[in-house]
Amino acid sequence: MSVEREQGEYIGKTGRSRALHEEATAVMPGGNSRTTTFFDPYPFYIERGQGAHVWDADGNDRLDFNGNYTSLILGHAPPEVIKAVQQTAERGLSFPGPTESEIALAAELTRRIPSMQTLRFTNSGTEATMNAVRVARAFTGRAKIAKFEGAYHGTHDWALVSVSPPVKASGSRTSPKPIPSSAGLPPAVMKHVVVLPWNDPDACEKILEKEAANLAAVLVDPLLGIGGILPPQPGFLERLREVTARHNIVLIFDEVISFRVARGGAQEKFGVTPDLTTLGKIIGGGLPVGAFGGRADIMGAYDPRKGGARIGHGGTFNANPPTMAAGLATLQALTPEAYERLDALGERLRGGVTRLLEATRKKGQVTGVGSLFCLHWVTGALTDYRSSRPKDPDAPMRVFLGLLNEGIILSQRGLGACSLAMVDEDIDRFVNALARVLARG
Ligand SMILES: Cc1ncc(COP(=O)(O)O)c(C=O)c1O
Repeated sequence: MSVEREQGEYIGKTGRSRALHEEATAVMPGGNSRTTTFFDPYPFYIERGQGAHVWDADGNDRLDFNGNYTSLILGHAPPEVIKAVQQTAERGLSFPGPTESEIALAAELTRRIPSMQTLRFTNSGTEATMNAVRVARAFTGRAKIAKFEGAYHGTHDWALVSVSPPVKASGSRTSPKPIPSSAGLPPAVMKHVVVLPWNDPDACEKILEKEAANLAAVLVDPLLGIGGILPPQPGFLERLREVTARHNIVLIFDEVISFRVARGGAQEKFGVTPDLTTLGKIIGGGLPVGAFGGRADIMGAYDPRKGGARIGHGGTFNANPPTMAAGLATLQALTPEAYERLDALGERLRGGVTRLLEATRKKGQVTGVGSLFCLHWVTGALTDYRSSRPKDPDAPMRVFLGLLNEGIILSQRGLGACSLAMVDEDIDRFVNALARVLARG
């Protein structure tokens, strides 16, 4: 089915969302406050979520494999998290000072991620990566940072380079050109961001060696999450660790998504220790959050005692108590058994999709780690951003809309996550829905 026909079916099911979107356009540009969630003709307006399900303003019930872009690892409205938030909120929502709740969440995170000797909270992953980059510059006295082609780290200037660039304009694969991913970036950004090719250790080493004297940090999402869950090939992260250590470049793991793959995140799973780590999404249990931290000598730049902070980091809602309580309640539910269950759900889904694609000879693949997965509409070896670009650029949107029409929520690019609210039948429902979407042509 074409994108237009899927859109037609979607419009037929979402009249009230359409009316709400029209209302929204009067007060927000394009009716929108979050670019990620918009798609043509208009997004569905959500009324409520419970467990693995979400209901929209027209009463459509959908199984949610998006989970607010991988944030809702326990599903919607888990009772233990709601209770923790309610109890906290009754004592006040935010204060002009710290609360005990932030110590509890920070302590839990430092136990799970030993490389985070100390950390600070923010309200988003964007603020976390922005601060990690800033402190790396302060620590090294160097100005440039390196990031990977296809990697997303939020919406501050330094992160908005080569996120989803047109391959034709991006130069050679082994030495990608920095391409602005937004209007409004100052030219200095393009001069200070070095772009690396994912999973090519030799090419990365060559670029890093050349730039080392000016490089403060290498910013790495260990799963290239928003870039399509393309796990690091064996030895790749180790090589980055070795080269950055040799040149005193701060290695930052952006684990905003990848933290969910193990109790101690991707760094535990792959056995590579960064200098700094950034977190977000699941650590707020569904409320706005971010965190950054790592080596105590680097994080010391934020120590305000005796007027000594070299970097100021205000934030009216940093470490706000409801978020801290929701985050702690969520992490407490993430026991070793919970990770086993999440891994099993992810395995079942990837197995089912792979068998479906083989049986129907459709040109696609599914990647993933643990509860995370991503659908790709290519057949060749998937190693980096460029190899994951679909030949038919409409394919991901067609599948996204088709799944919506079948009662399944994914992300527009095909990224998804299983949650602990799901059962095996939900996974099978996903695979069967995908089968019907693909059968439509
Ligand atoms: C790896 C990574 N870093 C940073 C961010 C930004 O987080 P936030 O949306 O909370 O600003 C995201 C968001 O998807 C992400 O996937």
